[in-house]
Amino acid sequence: MYHEKSYAKINLSLDILGKRDNGYHDLAMVMQTVRLCDEISINFQGDRLTLSSNLSFLPTGEKNLAVKATRLFYEAYKKEIPPLHISMEKKIPVCAGLAGGSGNAAAVLKILNNHHNSPFTQKELCEIGEKVGSDVPYCIVGGTAFVEGTGEIITPLSPLPPCYIVLCKPNFPISTPELFHTIDAIKIKHRPDTKGILQGMADGDLNSIACRMFNVFEQALTPRQQFIIEEIKSVFTDQGALGASMSGSGPTVIGLFAQKEKAMFAYETLLADYPDTFFTTPV
Ligand code: C5P
Repeated sequence: MYHEKSYAKINLSLDILGKRDNGYHDLAMVMQTVRLCDEISINFQGDRLTLSSNLSFLPTGEKNLAVKATRLFYEAYKKEIPPLHISMEKKIPVCAGLAGGSGNAAAVLKILNNHHNSPFTQKELCEIGEKVGSDVPYCIVGGTAFVEGTGEIITPLSPLPPCYIVLCKPNFPISTPELFHTIDAIKIKHRPDTKGILQGMADGDLNSIACRMFNVFEQALTPRQQFIIEEIKSVFTDQGALGASMSGSGPTVIGLFAQKEKAMFAYETLLADYPDTFFTTPV
């Protein structure tokens, strides 16, 4: 039995720089993995490829990125898929902008590569991951990173200074392709100061990073969605967060704190209204 933790990721910033001919977008994102994680296990037994999880609504077939990753791994390895069972203990909320599914795929690719005595380098594993989903290469690398291209250009950064992070997922769904479609149709008015965040990272200056947290996607939400996101952000700032913004394609909002007590207080306040609220720290 092989185990791997599949960490959630947050966006400290997200900018969209342009659109490619294939419909994908060039992005500039500062990403961070956090301790909130799913637990992935693979057992090389049974009679075929199967998957189970603690969430009854989670797809168990090809729609699950862990299954897609398995198929693409063995395609690249030029071997038949052996009998194996993937078991997932999900704790990261689904469709949350926290790359839960991409992280699961990354964990599976790492386990399969270990099991077969590393036939692929990390770079090659990321190339397989890229075919599974845009966030998968970053999830393979993890840590603090600047991510560009459609998600395939990953530059590791100095670690985020010690801090406390609260994640709060409001209860409305957002479709990532639809959000990209909406952002294409509007004029982006505000963008993150990516250079400033990268400088803050280089200086190890938490304040300078946090005050620049920004996600262009917030401008593409409906007024009702924007209202809820802003409400959560204002709870964070009222409770002393150094910065707050939406993660990925949402709807999870992140609050970044220097002091544990303030983060805990914000966590407890938001938990009363939003059951998908988590207290965590950077990995
Ligand atoms: O790669 P992934 O399957 O996660 O992407 C989901 C959707 O998000 C894509 O179908 C595409 O519409 C959009 N996307 C994009 N540009 C990116 C990443 C994703 O347009 N860089």
